[in-house]
Amino acid sequence: MFRLSRSTSISDSATNTVERLESEVRGYCRLFPSVFQTAKGSTLMTAEGRQFIDFFCGAGSLNYGHNPPAVKQALLDYVSHDGIQHSLDMMTEAKAQFLDRFEQTILRPRSMDYKIQFTGPTGTNAVEAAIKLAKQHRKRSHVVAFTNAYHGHSLGSLSLTGNQSYHSEYYGSHNNVSFLPYDGYLGDFDTTILLEKMLTDRSSGMPLPAAVVLETIQGEGGIHVANDAWLQRVQTLCREHDVLLIVDDIQVGNGRTGEFFSFEKAGLSPDLICLSKSIGGGLPLSLVMIRPECDVWQPGQHTGTFRGNNLAFVAANAVLNHWNEGSFVDGIQVRSNTLQAFLSSIVSEHVSENWDLRGRGMIWGLDVRRGDLARKVIDTAFQNGLLLESCGSDDEVLKFIPALNIPEQQLQQGLQLFRQSLQTVFPNPSATTPTLIPSTGSPVTSFGSSMVVS
Ligand SMILES: Cc1ncc(COP(=O)(O)O)c(C=O)c1O
Repeated sequence: MFRLSRSTSISDSATNTVERLESEVRGYCRLFPSVFQTAKGSTLMTAEGRQFIDFFCGAGSLNYGHNPPAVKQALLDYVSHDGIQHSLDMMTEAKAQFLDRFEQTILRPRSMDYKIQFTGPTGTNAVEAAIKLAKQHRKRSHVVAFTNAYHGHSLGSLSLTGNQSYHSEYYGSHNNVSFLPYDGYLGDFDTTILLEKMLTDRSSGMPLPAAVVLETIQGEGGIHVANDAWLQRVQTLCREHDVLLIVDDIQVGNGRTGEFFSFEKAGLSPDLICLSKSIGGGLPLSLVMIRPECDVWQPGQHTGTFRGNNLAFVAANAVLNHWNEGSFVDGIQVRSNTLQAFLSSIVSEHVSENWDLRGRGMIWGLDVRRGDLARKVIDTAFQNGLLLESCGSDDEVLKFIPALNIPEQQLQQGLQLFRQSLQTVFPNPSATTPTLIPSTGSPVTSFGSSMVVS
């Protein structure tokens, strides 16, 4: 039986075990080198009883916090009644209840008509499925992705990822993918002009794609926020050229931007939508939403043993209820304003360093221009009791993605810990202008301040 223990020796022994037995591939445990034991809401606790405020949120999988009470109770009830746990894609009551709840709570109020495909439980598997389906539907093999995109680490998804380090001949592949500049990549230049030219010019060298795949806010790529007009233009071009539009809402869906789907503000109706991370209320669950006329799958064409995890259905049902509460939705906006105001003031205090703030809703990126400096801030924040991570081609963007329901007071505490950490790394803002080192990968917005607000 799992027992809670407050002892450093347990922690040391757990660290030794992990370091001895787990592959070198492990990553986050190097960034956050503690043995975590319990978590509630936006607080994590280690074996020694150290507390951390969580601005990392399981890389966006814990939008509703750790162990939300409603999820805990629903899971305890389900397990104690011997509810079905594993079922591949057989029919279960838990699945039917999830589909029903998703339809009532999310689809109907938005007049959305989609079929749902449950894929393997990782986000990248939803992306793989969406790409496969688009290719089958349009009977074409090519796909357009964007600079700084990130869609996961399986081979198909890697081929859609902008960062060059994933494109070496022995690591990933970039077969059948053309990369075009995302919004803001060329400053104020409207990059949909290039997309249009590539699609219409028979000598552009780009085959007519089956799909264009995009994130409305690029999360891992450095928090780049596409303008509504840009997104709408991409959708129009897709429609005009008989190309499917796939929105990868794995990181910025599930309420991260303030609306359930990140594309609601721009009024998009994508052909395929990938959802994962927080859709399972903290448990692994991934799905593709498919416009009914695009659902050309034959039975069993994209299988997987762990499609549609029943425990995750139960957890998802519990958290989807929040979308019926006005106070939950309004609360996201209030916290968003707090985050934005605080981080804007940080940018002003460091004006000589030319930092940039980008984001919307509850996802904000503070671009401090250098990965090594961002890492110092993250390490110091960790020592001070705050979990924070970075993103961008050189990990130069500090990423703020607290839980959507983090209590305002805890949000303030976390921000104060961040300020304190920043002051350690930059003791005197105006006197510590770092020498800018150009990033090696694809350029990140060095076009002055591109702060985007909701
Ligand atoms: C936009 C986006 N797509 C796909 C993925 C991949 O999800 P997973 O890590 O669950 O495979 C991620 C992960 O960060 C993501 O941010």
